[in-house]
Amino acid sequence: MDLKPSRILAIETSCDETACAIVENGRALLSSVVASQMELHARYGGVFPEVASRQHVLSVTPVVEQALAQAHLTLQDIDALAVTQGPGLAGSLVVGMNMAKGLALGSGLPLVGVNHLEGHLYSAWIYNAGESIPPEPQFPLMALLVSGGHTELNLMTDHLTYQRLGSTLDDAAGEAFDKVSRLLELGYPGGPAVQRSAEEGDPFRFKFPRAWLEGTWDFSFSGLKTAVLYETQELKKRSASLPIPDLAASFQQAVIDVLFKKTMNAAREFGAKEILVAGGVSANRPLRQIFKSQTEFPVHIPPLSLCTDNAAMIASVGYYRRALGHTSSLDIDVMPTWPLS
Ligand code: KG4
Ligand code: ZN
Repeated sequence: MDLKPSRILAIETSCDETACAIVENGRALLSSVVASQMELHARYGGVFPEVASRQHVLSVTPVVEQALAQAHLTLQDIDALAVTQGPGLAGSLVVGMNMAKGLALGSGLPLVGVNHLEGHLYSAWIYNAGESIPPEPQFPLMALLVSGGHTELNLMTDHLTYQRLGSTLDDAAGEAFDKVSRLLELGYPGGPAVQRSAEEGDPFRFKFPRAWLEGTWDFSFSGLKTAVLYETQELKKRSASLPIPDLAASFQQAVIDVLFKKTMNAAREFGAKEILVAGGVSANRPLRQIFKSQTEFPVHIPPLSLCTDNAAMIASVGYYRRALGHTSSLDIDVMPTWPLS
């Protein structure tokens, strides 16, 4: 791998965040701007795709300008552009993609299309420029990716080399948080709302099922979600007020148990040196705590600001892809579905 020093500007618009970031040498974050559409979508209880793409159109230019301004740079100081190609919402991806192509065409800079899931994993490589440099994740690495759309265990044997061991058969972990949040009327986005409510609750009051799916590295969360629904319906028959924090905490505990134990078992079985946890759900405090305190492995979890969608992670992948000699032509298209491996 030819790791030449370079600065990458990346754009990410796969879902409901319009983001731009500049990263040096794959790891040092010079600037990161994320324009969240959370409030716009809250009234719908989830992301409304048409609303998301229209908002990206409005936000993308100012977000790129802000990222350059924050880093005190101009496009002349940038060596290459990276953009999220997929997976994600087609109408959202296309806005970032067209912006990136326009910048590439106007500036002559090379462009690299990046897989969003790969981006989430690389968020664990990033640190703020000027701060102390955290240890770099070491291969072979057992990588748990837990986002709103995906839950996967990948063995990384080298940079950009993934062996997908398992994934969810139904709901992603983040999706389960969002659905249970709606069920318990805790609001949107669901993950942080469930976590907040769970802080007041007893995680062992309700014995919700854990889908171990023995003999596989796959996950399943829809049975758990249904169990919360049935328990809630039963409780409603008996009392007007629901023990919401206990339900939230017991649900959260069930998700964490499965994610943690399956990752640990996979890390041991495949001889991983270290563990990486990334994606929106890796912002969950008790999940971070258990991974930081109850393993014999060094564990890498991105800082909170890089757990959910951002462009820094896309810039990081762009750097390592360029080091392998990858560039994309200007006629690349978005890939709304694009598995990691
Ligand atoms: O990675 P991400 O920002 O977007 C996707 O690529 O999907 O992940 C968003 C997901 C949402 O489902 C959200 O509820 C969940 O991450 N999430 C959390 C927390 N913060 C965000 N889940 C549990 N606890 C949290 N603190
Ligand atoms: Zn994401």
